[in-house]
Amino acid sequence: MSETPAKVAARAVDVSKVYGTGDSATTALDTVTLDIHSGTLTAIMGPSGSGKSTLMHVFAGLDTATSGSVSIGDTDITHLDDDALTLLRRRHLGFVFQAFNLVPTLSVLGNVTLPFELDGRKPSTDELAWVRVLLGRLGIGMLEERRPHELSGGQQQRVAIARALAMRPQLIFADEPTGNLDSKSSREVLGLLRDLTREYQQTVVLVTHDPVAASHADRVIFIADGAIAHDVGASDAKTLSDIILNLEVAS
Ligand SMILES: Nc1ncnc2c1ncn2[C@@H]1O[C@H](COP(=O)(O)OP(=O)(O)O)[C@@H](O)[C@H]1O
Ligand SMILES: [Mg+2]
Repeated sequence: MSETPAKVAARAVDVSKVYGTGDSATTALDTVTLDIHSGTLTAIMGPSGSGKSTLMHVFAGLDTATSGSVSIGDTDITHLDDDALTLLRRRHLGFVFQAFNLVPTLSVLGNVTLPFELDGRKPSTDELAWVRVLLGRLGIGMLEERRPHELSGGQQQRVAIARALAMRPQLIFADEPTGNLDSKSSREVLGLLRDLTREYQQTVVLVTHDPVAASHADRVIFIADGAIAHDVGASDAKTLSDIILNLEVAS
């Protein structure tokens, strides 16, 4: 039986990124070629400074590649202008960062519906209902009216996750989303991110140092010195655990 080819949510072909010039030049990405498959959770691991954030930024059009090409869905974003990139990000991408990036003057509900406001409209009744489903599912349904400073770090990151999912984006990037959380809330937040995105068939690229979180991914990509060092599918759990074990011993 032949397999249906997986739909590609994002694609990088021979992408390099060099910061600076001459003696001070840093090659953050070195001819990376990578497909992210729709509906999957891809974990990205690797040492600090290996190029994980740069990879996400180039995928999301937050930074331009020095060479190579990047597409999101069927759109080649390599030569899109800033306005087109901004629109693409607003409508089709979701982000969760280490810093929660919530607007301090807005309530939880205000923060989660911000993507609609930024798109110049109010959420429809259905969209508002969906947002409330998300808040409930994330265990922050009762906190709708609170301001970010009235929430714990873990609760704030749940708000950021709800916001990332609010417009049902094609692709969600989460860059070390639990970097500011204690280990208990980290596990909870990562578990929720994983479960929610699975339930709603979201495509997620997650940068994490947590080997347990990575072991729940469909695929784990290890980056070293701006290049893909290993690319391991979940079906290859043995290899995955070996690599993670080695990483833990090494770090
Ligand atoms: N804006 C920038 N200007 C110059 N160098 C940068 C910039 N962003 C990242 N770098 C360099 O690129 C490399 C990869 O960085 P980064 O992608 O942030 O790594 P990671 O997320 O894996 O820690 C590092 O050497 C870093 O110092
Ligand atoms: Mg980083």
